[in-house]
Amino acid sequence: MAPHGDGSGAAEEAAAGGAEKRPVSTIVILIAMQAEALPVVDRFQLVEDQDSLFPKGVPWVRYHGTYKDLNINLISPGKDPSSGVDSIGTISASLVTYASIQALKPDLIINAGTAGGFKAKGASISDVFLASEVAFHDRRIPIPVFDLYGVGLRPAFSTPNLVKELNLKVGKLSTGDSLDMSQQDEATIFANDATLKDMEGAAIAYVADILKVPAIFVKAVTDIVDGDKPTAEEFLQNLATVTAALDQTVCQVVEFMNGKCLSDL
Ligand code: ADE
Repeated sequence: MAPHGDGSGAAEEAAAGGAEKRPVSTIVILIAMQAEALPVVDRFQLVEDQDSLFPKGVPWVRYHGTYKDLNINLISPGKDPSSGVDSIGTISASLVTYASIQALKPDLIINAGTAGGFKAKGASISDVFLASEVAFHDRRIPIPVFDLYGVGLRPAFSTPNLVKELNLKVGKLSTGDSLDMSQQDEATIFANDATLKDMEGAAIAYVADILKVPAIFVKAVTDIVDGDKPTAEEFLQNLATVTAALDQTVCQVVEFMNGKCLSDL
């Protein structure tokens, strides 16, 4: 993923290879939860794959369709075969990102989903943010340089025109595999200067980075991490309303992208 404008990132290398000079054509929208994904599927009238692109037996689901000049692929890690719940978290996110890039060679990845927000950093329920950078907060390796590897800080692909046009809030995103927040996680989230906390972003960023695909992160706030309500309760209470806000913003992002090159975003 490209650092903001320093010209040294993987996505800028990809863009230098020509992708930035032609309009974005194929996009992959990665969404972890079915409740977050279905409004977007309905809005773009996407259809579920009958013949999966993915290995036989995996729960990963692809919905696809066209909107104006864009081939849209909404991909979700699907239901965990053992428990039957959505396969949230970094492991499924990494695997499905890798498989999607291999199969579809997208011009751009949009990771859309819900997140916890920190009111001390300006987040409120139903706000939709674009992440400026992503990092992990639960990979503690106190050995020089491995500590930095653990945090895995990566800038999102820079989209200044998109931010301006849609008047999006921008903040840093911190990723871990737990919905709750331990004291150790909290210290790292603070060190990461994060406004948002999710369970997939930095994992998707890692895979997108090594495979040189630009990625952006659209995150809608379901719960206030530094508030007084229990996270799981607040998350479930707000999920339906907030997914509507997320859907609306994803739609605006897609609309904005249509007909534009990466360098125009
Ligand atoms: N997704 C929504 N709320 C979250 C939180 N508080 N932490 C991690 N992921 C989330």
